Amino acid sequence: MPTDKAKESAAIAAVDEHINANVHIIGIGSGSTIVPAVKKIAEMVKKDKLDLICVPTSLQARELILSNGLKLGSLIEYQELDLAIDGADEVDEQFNCIKGGGGCQTQEKLVAICAKKFIVVADEKKWSKNLGDQWKKGIPIEVLPIAYKITKKEIEKQLGGEVVVREGTEKLGPVLTDQANFILDWKFDSSKVSNWSDINTKLKLIPGVVETGLFINMISKAYFGNSEGKVQVKT
Ligand code: A5P
Repeated sequence: MPTDKAKESAAIAAVDEHINANVHIIGIGSGSTIVPAVKKIAEMVKKDKLDLICVPTSLQARELILSNGLKLGSLIEYQELDLAIDGADEVDEQFNCIKGGGGCQTQEKLVAICAKKFIVVADEKKWSKNLGDQWKKGIPIEVLPIAYKITKKEIEKQLGGEVVVREGTEKLGPVLTDQANFILDWKFDSSKVSNWSDINTKLKLIPGVVETGLFINMISKAYFGNSEGKVQVKT
């Protein structure tokens, strides 16, 4: 696969700034942008003989940690992380963020809340004025399989829009998350939203909802790369 310069430059800039001998336990995100980040972390661990434990946000992240020869930890053993690095589907000017394009939002949020700093790395196209301007696939919402029809109906009744059950491309039927739940993608007119925290709370109160892909007020610092390899840092 050809290297994506935008993602790679953001990932490397973030790792360069945040990984050092004072950092011991970190969260590793999911998706494609985290791949060059983990590669760079592994190089630094080897070169500088760092003592680092990596806590994954998905099975993909777990495999990435292991295949790069890094030490693996888990949320069962570690609930206090020095930082977490992860990708995003969209980040807005208020630092609200959509995650879960890859279906890993629940573990990603658990890891993010355990981290002293939550660092986001992304292509500059993920930056937007208001959430929903860029990401048109809807807000990912993880739900209990038994509840998916009730939850879909309830979201549409309470909040409007259309809820789509996420299905696989290689397999018929709903996609299963790492927690063996289903994902609903909620599409609606995001331009009417003035308070994303309120939307997140309303979603979380609907029975059957396990977690949403809305990350409100969680980001500490975000790195956005472009195709020329230039990186913009937002705090
Ligand atoms: C996984 O569920 C997601 O939250 C990813 O972190 C997000 O989709 C970003 O992925 P990319 O790094 O592939 O853009």
